[in-house]
Amino acid sequence: MYRFLRPLLFLLDAEQSHNLTLFALRCITLFPGGRGLLRALFANRTPSLTVELMGLQFPNPVGLAAGLDKNARYQNALSDLGFGFLELGTVTPLPQTGNPLKRLFRLSENNAIINRMGFNSIGAEAFVYNLRKQGRPGIIGINIGKNKDTTNEQAIEDYLKTFTAVYTYADYIAINISSPNTPGLRDLQDQQRLDKLLGQLKHEQVALGKTRRVYVPIAIKISPDLDDDHITTIAQLALTHRLDAIIATNTTISRPDLEGHPYAREQGGLSGRPLKDLSTAVIKKLYGELQGRVAIIGLGGVENAEDAWEKLVAGADLIQVYTALIYQGPRLVRDIVSGLTRRVETSGCATLAETVAKARSGIHLMR
Ligand SMILES: Cc1cc2nc3c(=O)[nH]c(=O)nc-3n(C[C@H](O)[C@H](O)[C@H](O)COP(=O)(O)O)c2cc1C
Repeated sequence: MYRFLRPLLFLLDAEQSHNLTLFALRCITLFPGGRGLLRALFANRTPSLTVELMGLQFPNPVGLAAGLDKNARYQNALSDLGFGFLELGTVTPLPQTGNPLKRLFRLSENNAIINRMGFNSIGAEAFVYNLRKQGRPGIIGINIGKNKDTTNEQAIEDYLKTFTAVYTYADYIAINISSPNTPGLRDLQDQQRLDKLLGQLKHEQVALGKTRRVYVPIAIKISPDLDDDHITTIAQLALTHRLDAIIATNTTISRPDLEGHPYAREQGGLSGRPLKDLSTAVIKKLYGELQGRVAIIGLGGVENAEDAWEKLVAGADLIQVYTALIYQGPRLVRDIVSGLTRRVETSGCATLAETVAKARSGIHLMR
């Protein structure tokens, strides 16, 4: 179906067609039987793919990446597409409109997107209102950021405010310090700043855990443009602060494989196929440092079960998708889930975790 709709949607401006598709998806769920129909079409039941991580049980390892549902408007419809979890946001403390249009570019020949959305967000209060209205259809991560006008010196206040506001409604909270579209945000990945930020968030997590009687895991989302030393530093900080997960990676400001493309010089973050190897290399390096002591959520250019498998073997415990969903539509999730299920079945293992462990140790032995 999406195969036939895509050429029409791609005639529209990229951001308009994003919004229209999500709106149409939500309309389907408002019809009686609509949600059941979506689930029947897209959601596979796959006990062998269940992942136990961060004290949560993920029905499968394929998540929706942050940025598609920035304002918590579509989580019921999206969960019917068979995702194992959804990451909503990025949400900022106060509402902001983001960068001026046009700020989203499709690079169809490369199965890629360049975006400079700049955290368009309805703000934490309205976001929480939406969350409460829609309920929690499955595992929900909430990705938080800072307002554009907030300086990096005051950024911790922004993160703490939103962290506290969404705490009760999240299964995990992702700290976005890697979007290239908010000036200076990526500097929060620097050792001293990150140390301070994580220290305060961890302190808040403990305090909220006591008063609200629930432990909500913390993840940080990092950039693919870090060098090896920087990745090592971040891994060490994650261990020191007992972080629950690292999400690797956000979009890149580099332009691999885009020579001569008319959009290559557009400012913003590049996602999709050209990001794939860059993000896998970050995951590999991170896993080498962490050895399973902190969970890794891997993403960047995952277009099929093979790509998902590559990220898992590199060290990811879960994966996420965004850009390929725009190009392939909702069957992407079902196809990745089926492909991974087949891998488990043919490996002779009972679970995905065992299958991945076997593959990782095979690679290790071959070195
Ligand atoms: C249009 C667009 C908007 C995005 N917005 C966000 C965002 O608000 N917060 C965030 O952490 N990542 C955001 N991302 C990055 C994605 O979550 C993801 O890290 C990146 O696109 C790599 O995955 P992919 O290659 O599967 O798209 C956005 C990506 C795109 C394409």
